[in-house]
Amino acid sequence: MAKIAAQNKLDISKSAINKNSVVVIDFGAQYAQLITRRVREAQIFSILLPYTYSLEKILQYKPQAIILTGGPSTVSQNNAPKIPNGLLDAGIPIFAICYGFQEIANSSGGAAGLAKKGEYGLVEAKLNEKAIKNPLFKNVAKNSQVWMSHKVVVKKLPPDYIHFASSKETPIAAFGNPKKKIYGVQWHPEVSHTKYGQKILENFLYKIANITPNWTTDYIISEKISQIKSQIKNKQAICGLSGGVDSAVAAALVNKAIGKNLICVFVNHGLLRLNEGTQVKKDFESSQNFKLKIVDDRKIFLKKLKGIKDPEQKRKIIGEQFIRSFEKAVKSLSCQPEFLVQGTLYPDIVESGKGENTANIKSHHNVGGLPDDLNFDLIEPLKDLFKDEVRSIGKALGLPDKIINRQPFPGPGLAVRIIGEVNQKNLNILQKADAVAQQVLKKYNKQIWQCPVVLLAEVKTVGVKGDSRHYGLPIVLRPVMSQDAMTADWVYLPKSVLTNLSNRITNEVPEITRVILDITQKPPGTIEWE
Ligand code: XMP
Repeated sequence: MAKIAAQNKLDISKSAINKNSVVVIDFGAQYAQLITRRVREAQIFSILLPYTYSLEKILQYKPQAIILTGGPSTVSQNNAPKIPNGLLDAGIPIFAICYGFQEIANSSGGAAGLAKKGEYGLVEAKLNEKAIKNPLFKNVAKNSQVWMSHKVVVKKLPPDYIHFASSKETPIAAFGNPKKKIYGVQWHPEVSHTKYGQKILENFLYKIANITPNWTTDYIISEKISQIKSQIKNKQAICGLSGGVDSAVAAALVNKAIGKNLICVFVNHGLLRLNEGTQVKKDFESSQNFKLKIVDDRKIFLKKLKGIKDPEQKRKIIGEQFIRSFEKAVKSLSCQPEFLVQGTLYPDIVESGKGENTANIKSHHNVGGLPDDLNFDLIEPLKDLFKDEVRSIGKALGLPDKIINRQPFPGPGLAVRIIGEVNQKNLNILQKADAVAQQVLKKYNKQIWQCPVVLLAEVKTVGVKGDSRHYGLPIVLRPVMSQDAMTADWVYLPKSVLTNLSNRITNEVPEITRVILDITQKPPGTIEWE
């Protein structure tokens, strides 16, 4: 069996998907991931790389176009991020946003500096006659709303650049050098408030960089399948199903590629929602023509988690035990899989700090939580994909809506929704409250991306039950809407629904004395509490 350490850094060079790619150079923008997503929405593959990468390293990704993001720095400050040396002369079409735009001016003989007045939020951008004739602004209204967030402006146009647009406080709000195919805007086209944002991005990609969009579901499936086939060949692979959409889609893809050489294992760690263990088996076996091996390790997981309150430690323990449970399953099946299939997504990698130049926000159990002595080579066919892309693939592969539309649920399960120790008592309380929330919110499935129900197991709160004071526990409801879990907003539910939730939970779960609604956006809050 191959012995390797966890290797799940996004390694695009090994991916078959390096045709028609766009590299997004990150200057630390809040919306950097969103730009990458917007390019994918235009059906072109894209990847985010840090500005510290050399031109040589960037060129390894064979980009047909480059996008420079915004960022929090000021171009004139010491150690301000710079455009990688030589990039502006590499002959690759470039589109720059906000900081990237200012930095082009700064480094190409123009100038950028503090504005008299910054612009934040929606403003009107006015295109001039030259802009209207340029393909970048084809089918874009002459005056339209754009979203701005800046205190620095371009003060002097670089030589050979044409002025295209202005706003109230920003005389030079867009420019371009058609000969070099380098363009930039001060506003944020990636943000949905910018009316023609996606149009401008697509104009750049299709009309300036001349990229043919090919990042379609069919294309992704066929590329992934041939990649999996060439990696696994005629060997065996094992896949851990969690009941969620990601591992189900990963398994369906690998099943298409290697058929009966895939063995699927479902580890019941006891941290699932009420009755979810049996439901997963039923849903999966009825939709896919392969058997699921169930490992019931509920007792082992609870034993290992005894006394543990730190969320990162919980994730690591669960990640490690997952692997041990797989190994046990392999032994009992007397097969010899060399590969472990996981449904890791691109955002999991970015948030676990394994992406390029990203901070470690939390260790997703299947990324940062893998043990170093992993006994399998990893197959992670979804590791460069966003959730909505994965859902489309699942649909195309014939997975039932029941699985595809399941709310995202963290691999470590309810363990990261119990703030405090994970024990059977706390699990029972949370499962009951969660089941009520699921029932009540069922008809809001379209408005709610997911609704974690979180037990604050260490907080005692007073309530009145049966005319007497009663100390119980608070539970938090966190209904959020999101496109890809990278950002999220809380969902405004009708008062009657919230009242119903609160009444039912406090009545049906006697240990709960208080129901709390979480109204924090992501950022700054994450979706899960731990
Ligand atoms: P956060 O809390 O980071 O969640 O805003 C983003 C998405 O990821 C899920 N999540 C996890 N999934 N292992 C997983 O497999 C984890 O450790 C984990 N933590 C969060 C979360 O439910 C949301 O969909």
